[in-house]
Amino acid sequence: MKKNLFIAFEGIDGSGKSTQVKLLTQKLEVAGLKVYTTCEPTDGPIGKIIRDIFRHKMEADHRTIAGLFVADRLDHLLNKTNGILKKLEEGYTVITDRYYFSSYAYQSTHVDQHWVIQANSLSANLQRPDLNIYIDISPELSIDRLNKGRDSIELYETLENLQNVRNKYFEIMELLKKEEKVLIVDGNREPEIISNEIWDNIANRFK
Ligand code: ADP
Ligand code: TYD
Repeated sequence: MKKNLFIAFEGIDGSGKSTQVKLLTQKLEVAGLKVYTTCEPTDGPIGKIIRDIFRHKMEADHRTIAGLFVADRLDHLLNKTNGILKKLEEGYTVITDRYYFSSYAYQSTHVDQHWVIQANSLSANLQRPDLNIYIDISPELSIDRLNKGRDSIELYETLENLQNVRNKYFEIMELLKKEEKVLIVDGNREPEIISNEIWDNIANRFK
């Protein structure tokens, strides 16, 4: 592979991002690469506030949440201990479970889309993913998987909201198709089949 890559997984809740992050990490490690996996919201202080809001431990306006995600993402990129930029400099291939497309899709269903894109432009300018991988499942399947795997439902995890979020993902992937590399995969198949398709695509693009 050409260089250490920065790859972002995207999709609505329960689309299989964490499963695919694990499978891709294994394949990259077998190919001899150093891999650093990470996620948003982060485990840092701002990410913790966001998680409390999502678990209904704290209340916040959608605009406040949108601002918190902007700050959490900048810390994710820039923090000196384990920031994405530092890890890339150290030669790791970095895989993140969610990045700014999540804000474009989730926050733009509640807050002005142009503001969301603009507010995240510092992050986009600091580090664009070499590839955004969007795992597509229907909102109905998402709710089905969430009901099986969780005992509580977080903010934004309703059928209507997930329908809006999925529509926003497609709208904004189309809007930004000139500047963003996106691979869309069908998430309603066996995990290994999805993983092999992702692997073939990455191997072809970055040989
Ligand atoms: P996300 O990180 O997008 O929320 P997960 O990888 O945690 O998604 O998957 C959500 C749930 O769906 C988990 O219970 C997981 O085992 C299951 N799952 C993941 N991928 C698939 C798949 N391709 N087919 C069926 N179930 C899946
Ligand atoms: P996550 O832990 O990835 O949830 P899941 O594994 O169910 O996909 O993300 C938690 C929630 O945060 C999820 O509902 C999506 C939301 N989110 C945003 O609204 N905006 C963002 O920018 C990010 C990164 C996540």
